[in-house]
Amino acid sequence: MELDPASLDQRESYQLLISAIVPRPIALVATISEDGVANLAPFSFFTGVCSKPPMVGLSVVRRRGEKKDTLRNIEANSEFVVNVVSAGMAQAMNQTAADYAPEVDEFSAAGLTQVASLRVRPSRAGESLISLECRLVEIKDFGKMPYISSFVIGEVVQFHLKDAVYEDGVVDFGMLNAVGRMGRDLYCHTGDVFEMNRPRMDE
Ligand SMILES: Cc1cc2nc3c(=O)[nH]c(=O)nc-3n(C[C@H](O)[C@H](O)[C@H](O)COP(=O)(O)O)c2cc1C
Repeated sequence: MELDPASLDQRESYQLLISAIVPRPIALVATISEDGVANLAPFSFFTGVCSKPPMVGLSVVRRRGEKKDTLRNIEANSEFVVNVVSAGMAQAMNQTAADYAPEVDEFSAAGLTQVASLRVRPSRAGESLISLECRLVEIKDFGKMPYISSFVIGEVVQFHLKDAVYEDGVVDFGMLNAVGRMGRDLYCHTGDVFEMNRPRMDE
């Protein structure tokens, strides 16, 4: 099968991308509105961008041509928190993807606990084993209306790691058991890890 992207509509192109880029990590992103309302939403077009300083990026697509609350909030106050989603939080994470009105506090709606952040205004999710407090670096738009995607890059200004998953600079992935997003509405667990050393050219 050969497919020319020009022959695909947005939906078809999206379905192929989310099936080809698997598994994707899920950033459960906490922001706060200008009125102080807490917002939570999952984003799986999410990746690391730089390690020193640490930076992450996520892509927020338009919804029916309109900016999502997450993007509006980050544009308004330049701060967000990425919460890593472990298996026990999967249902709550999915709940936050519902199309809530801007005035709804999505921590409460999903039954997640707001914990004050150290360096940014948005709270982190207390259930997350790892959270990253971020400050906006840049927003870059791609595509054309109504399908514009805004790639949001943030610098991590504070790491939170629960003692249970972190020891001597190493994360216990079995304990973290982060959820991965696949194509369609499919997910995977990431507790099943294996080690493979890189080939060394000097031997
Ligand atoms: C697992 C998962 C991953 C998602 N990834 C993205 C994404 O990468 N980009 C995006 O724009 N929407 C993504 N969505 C949809 C948003 O979470 C959804 O539109 C949400 O309602 C946006 O909330 P907000 O308006 O509060 O920002 C995803 C949904 C789920 C369930």
